[in-house]
Amino acid sequence: MIRFIAAIDEKRGIADDSGIPWQGRIPSDVAYFRKKTTNSNIMMGTGWYREQEKPLPNRRNLVATTSVERLRDGFEKVPDARKYLAETKEDIWVGGGAGLFASTIDLADELYITQLQGDFHCTKFFPDFRAQFVLTEESEPYTENGISYTFQVWKRA
Ligand SMILES: NC(=O)c1ccc[n+]([C@@H]2O[C@H](COP(=O)([O-])OP(=O)(O)OC[C@H]3O[C@@H](n4cnc5c(N)ncnc54)[C@H](OP(=O)(O)O)[C@@H]3O)[C@@H](O)[C@H]2O)c1
Repeated sequence: MIRFIAAIDEKRGIADDSGIPWQGRIPSDVAYFRKKTTNSNIMMGTGWYREQEKPLPNRRNLVATTSVERLRDGFEKVPDARKYLAETKEDIWVGGGAGLFASTIDLADELYITQLQGDFHCTKFFPDFRAQFVLTEESEPYTENGISYTFQVWKRA
């Protein structure tokens, strides 16, 4: 199963030029991400990889990149993310960022979306997915540090 996992604002924004604008303000979303992806495989693009200080623990850290540059220890290179996702028999969580989401969303079975209220003036966006997926689960609304959000699961229509 190929699952995407992302927190998005109401304009589908996921990051600005400095990273994730709500970083550190929604600990429950970090815990949700950790719970979903631990003991599994997480795939990231090089943009997000460069922001990681170290590999995400207790997960196989796959990095989609066409570059020949060596990755740091604990990260595994995937030169063609589309081919990898199309052929794997394993469960993969695709964790972003925007470039990786855009290049592979047609291969996703499910989307785990933390839907934030508000516009965080992002410059990087999650692809438009609502015509291809249906909302199958949504949590009650939560508010943390002034940010309101729900956890949603979307399945391919
Ligand atoms: N809100 C959220 O949930 C969330 C989640 C994750 C990340 N983010 C944020 O998103 C931002 C990064 O996004 P981004 O768009 O700049 O970068 P990105 O998606 O992390 O990385 C893009 C790079 O990934 C590689 N790539 C993408 N598709 C590929 C494919 N099909 N096969 C092989 N390689 C592929 C390419 O690297 P090469 O150029 O090396 O070939 C491409 O330049 C960060 O600020 C991060 O914090 C937000």
